[in-house]
Amino acid sequence: MKITKICCIGAGYVGGPTMAVIAQKCPHIQVTVVDLNEQRIADWNDPNPENIPIYEPGLSEIVAEARGRNLFFSTDVDKAIDEAQMIFISVNTPTKTYGKGKGMAADLKYIELCARQIARVAKQNKIVVEKSTLPVRTAEAIKSILDNTGNGVQFQILSNPEFLAEGTAVTDLLNPDRILIGGDTTQEGEEAINSLVEVYSNWVRRDQILTTNVWSSELSKLTANAFLAQRISSINAMSELCEKTGADVNEVAKAIGMDSRIGPKFLRASVGFGGSCFQKDILNLVYIAKSYGLNEVADYWEQVIIMNDHQKRRFSSKIVQTLYNTVADKKITFLGWAFKKDTNDTRESAAIYVADDLINEQAKISVFDPKVSKNKMLSDLDYLETRSSEDNRDAISVFDNAYDACKGAHAIAILTEWDEFTTYDWKKIYDSMHKPAFIFDGRNILNAKQLESIGFVYRGIGS
Ligand code: UDX
Ligand code: ADP
Repeated sequence: MKITKICCIGAGYVGGPTMAVIAQKCPHIQVTVVDLNEQRIADWNDPNPENIPIYEPGLSEIVAEARGRNLFFSTDVDKAIDEAQMIFISVNTPTKTYGKGKGMAADLKYIELCARQIARVAKQNKIVVEKSTLPVRTAEAIKSILDNTGNGVQFQILSNPEFLAEGTAVTDLLNPDRILIGGDTTQEGEEAINSLVEVYSNWVRRDQILTTNVWSSELSKLTANAFLAQRISSINAMSELCEKTGADVNEVAKAIGMDSRIGPKFLRASVGFGGSCFQKDILNLVYIAKSYGLNEVADYWEQVIIMNDHQKRRFSSKIVQTLYNTVADKKITFLGWAFKKDTNDTRESAAIYVADDLINEQAKISVFDPKVSKNKMLSDLDYLETRSSEDNRDAISVFDNAYDACKGAHAIAILTEWDEFTTYDWKKIYDSMHKPAFIFDGRNILNAKQLESIGFVYRGIGS
């Protein structure tokens, strides 16, 4: 099937950037991104590309180039489905908050709604591509819904997991390590795979496009995220041991990372990983393993999450202990709220959990993040349902610059590794704080020696 029209359901962190890059690289393909969320679509259509709803370096320029030419954002889901030969499903698959598998399994209700909508609308054969990260064998469920509720047309289901990381989404999409496409091993399945290979071949070398069966593709995504998260929990576990033994986790990470079998990436000790994927995908993996009775496999991977939760709690406890075992009514300034630098995404950010712990200890939290709004921070805290919205509003003050946020603080905690934090006039900040002035560097990005020479009491992770 020659692809001239693509529809993507879901204009979020995955669908938006991915489709913008496909549109940029394939000017002969019309790409329409649809979403039920009218505000989100309005924001993607904002005349000023700087105001698009997702902050990613380089994204607004690509949207400016392709939007209106062959990239469209719309709420008319039926029309886009009807016109496209290929439909990407890029909707959210959060962890279930109810019923069987609560707190573990992926909630597939949005996926099922999409499948039913595609089945209802489609009058011609379509290729349906799973872009969202899904439990292994979800394609089977989608296929069953499409075949049983459709209008007698043929559907091919492909799994094409997205490996982009937020903050580097555009470069990851433009220069992927690999593209993975899973499909049926039948002739129709192979033809569908080839149609998608052709789309990517507009900018990705053929030898970087890997084709597999559907189940391998689905499971590879979960496995990749589990391995990456496991490296972070492993180095974070070592960070606690370093603090007890006088070793320095940065030196340990460098020493092991030079072993080419281990490699240097994803060994940065931190206050704990966040983001929409790692925790959700590992919980999902644990749930799947348990559902097959593989309890040792499930326990093995669950430990990655247990370690990550411990690392976040350990950070807040360390702040309390160091501030003479009480933070009640003390001002603690958070620099950073996003789950990593160069994104405005806060899903599962360590900052949320550390703030929640410290508010339980009656601290007053001031926050500055270059890209996250006050409303987002408050809704993140409200979502935990630890206390009333009013109490969260009383406990948090949000500033539009770091210097004001730090004025009169008893301690500063670095929660996100934004580059600009390393360039501040730290002497000026020190002068405006209560003494002793503490810094808890949850990302090990600041220069400890320099800060100590100014007078700060500096505490990093793992040293
Ligand atoms: C991840 C995967 O990297 C990506 O391939 C997948 O498609 C989606 O999930 P993302 O969550 O966007 O991407 O960001 P990532 O760079 O993986 O960081 C995840 C979290 O781990 C962040 O909170 C980050 O700060 C933390 N991290 C990362 C560390 O604490 N230490 C490290 O060494 C690396
Ligand atoms: P991700 O990080 O996976 O991209 P997001 O939550 O950022 O997740 O984006 C998913 C988007 O999918 C949301 O904007 C949501 O409104 C949209 N969505 C969910 N279900 C549907 C649906 N049935 N039809 C259209 N859009 C949907």
